[in-house]
Amino acid sequence: MDKFVITGGTPIKGRIFVGGAKNAAVAIIPAVILAGDVCRIENLPDISDVVVISAILEELGAVVKNLGGGVVEIDPRPINNYVADHELVKNMRASYYLLGALLGRFSKARVPLPGGCYFGVRPIDQHLKGFEALGATPKVENGMVSLNAESLTGSHIYLDVVSVGATINIMLAAVKARGLTIIENVAREPHIVDLANFLNSMGADIMGAGTDTIKIRGVEKLGGTTYSVIPDQIEAGSYMVAAAATGGDVIIDNVIPKHLETITAKLVEMGCTVEEMDDAVRVTRDKPLTRCNVKTMPHPGFPTDMQPQIGVLLAMAEGTSILTEGVWDSRFQYVGELCKMGAQVSVDGKAAIFEGVKQLTGAPVKATDLRGGAAVVIAAMAAQGESTIEDIYHIERGYEKIIEKLCSVGAKIERRSFPDR
Ligand code: EPU
Repeated sequence: MDKFVITGGTPIKGRIFVGGAKNAAVAIIPAVILAGDVCRIENLPDISDVVVISAILEELGAVVKNLGGGVVEIDPRPINNYVADHELVKNMRASYYLLGALLGRFSKARVPLPGGCYFGVRPIDQHLKGFEALGATPKVENGMVSLNAESLTGSHIYLDVVSVGATINIMLAAVKARGLTIIENVAREPHIVDLANFLNSMGADIMGAGTDTIKIRGVEKLGGTTYSVIPDQIEAGSYMVAAAATGGDVIIDNVIPKHLETITAKLVEMGCTVEEMDDAVRVTRDKPLTRCNVKTMPHPGFPTDMQPQIGVLLAMAEGTSILTEGVWDSRFQYVGELCKMGAQVSVDGKAAIFEGVKQLTGAPVKATDLRGGAAVVIAAMAAQGESTIEDIYHIERGYEKIIEKLCSVGAKIERRSFPDR
């Protein structure tokens, strides 16, 4: 079993280059199923989620060419199968985008219920509500979701919950449906806008992405395209927090500073300096962290995918801070790991109360999930002494070359093999 071994206590200094956005990439790759020609996608992150979703498309019959350097060419024309029941599909949350994409192309889809990180119940009722409104009959049986439609027709859909996944899935299904689809109370995350831009670059007619209402006028055919994925907001935010946690000075390059505003605001509130440039931010900290409260919300609120990482800073900030999760039922699994490193945190339902400690200390811990894993890496970098982190596969699902990137700014991290217990 491989683990990360991290020796903490070194402020990181230098420049880190951020890759393409995971949550945009895992939507854009399945969206290629709808294309009528080859799509070239650039700036894809080098992470296992992208490898898996590309392999799933290949399994369906697409021709996928990895050209290296984050560039992949996909020819979706040979796909002739609307059933995706390969083992890979079951373990990946974002594989539910196959539902919308296959439905949009074949008016039918059969895909297993999604897996992925566990944050309490993760229903897909809003996805199914949208598909139904477009004319499909959904059925959930034996762990599979089946969708069947004679044809798809535009509709007016109001989401009861602001959901990234439902917004994306309904967009995918509606893009070739007959007539106008209006989706209200949609998610506004940067990757929603990126997917809409990608689909529009293939000839779709989508307006309003980034606001709370999206209008889609169905088109008969989509072509191919060349498209570059936006930078990863959460990877950037994680490195901003790493700079703050270690008292470092880091330029985080290839970012869209606007996407980082809520993270920047909290770091500044806690006593860090954040300088915004055109496509980079510089984060420095040279004084103790001050307490603050944080509540996660759908975009443009503070991102839930940054909740565990900001938790590390609250664990080290003088005084009492309250961190409230406003998106998921339960996303505090990592807190137990931080406590092994000396943090003083109690969780009460959707809130965690942090009593800041002066110094975290190295310990054997595990990555409980992707972002919880990023949090323990950051905590270990700031802690005194050595930490080992197991279950690192969670981290490698979503952070490209994390060791290389962090070591290039002075972190002391190794990936080491340990005998299986
Ligand atoms: N929800 C419903 N019904 C639905 C769909 C969602 O009640 O049909 C609820 C969920 O239970 C949750 C809330 O709505 O309480 C938001 O869920 P959402 O659908 O927005 O989440 P998701 O699409 O499953 C994506 C990201 C997550 C991120 C959330 C929220 C991808 C592949 N995943 O998940 O990212 O936390 O949006 O921003 O885009 C991560 O990257 O670490 C990650 C978990």
